[in-house]
Amino acid sequence: MAVRKIIRMGHPNLRRVARPLLPEELDSDELHRLVGDMIDTLHDYGGIGLAAPQVNENVRLAIVEVPGGPSRYGALDRTPLTVCVNPEIEVVDPETAGYWEGCLSIPGLRGWVERPQHVRVRFLDLQGQTHETEARGFLATVFQHEFDHLDGRLYVDHVADPTRLAFEDEYARYVLPHEEAAAGGG
Ligand code: NI
Repeated sequence: MAVRKIIRMGHPNLRRVARPLLPEELDSDELHRLVGDMIDTLHDYGGIGLAAPQVNENVRLAIVEVPGGPSRYGALDRTPLTVCVNPEIEVVDPETAGYWEGCLSIPGLRGWVERPQHVRVRFLDLQGQTHETEARGFLATVFQHEFDHLDGRLYVDHVADPTRLAFEDEYARYVLPHEEAAAGGG
């Protein structure tokens, strides 16, 4: 397996609608190799999700892996590595909440994005088995962020207030202390 280069915002291939994987491509050596490379790439760059278009592969495939425990997003439930082929997403409850999102294709920046916090996701695994699960809170945001990549969308498209787009250093210096104070230091 190998660490692949992640393409960055401005690369036109991040703005394409990716094609579905075909039944005959499932469980193929080529697909297993691509997923292995994506896992290596996610771990090398350090992230919680990666979509195939970010390694310049125009297919509807994304991986998500959320380590549990405390984080800058609050205390997170662990989500083991999940491989999503041809995923679909449906909003269960449209009530939104916001997070300061980042993206490996937009290194160095954070942006405040509000999204529905209760969704149902359906996808195939590498063997073609269908999985369906509901996601709430931060995990709902993660799935929406990753699946957006498959339709050529980036989180910056959802930053409604451009003053809430910041470099990580400035975010840590000027934004985070206020948010922690507002949250009672939590
Ligand atoms: Ni991203």
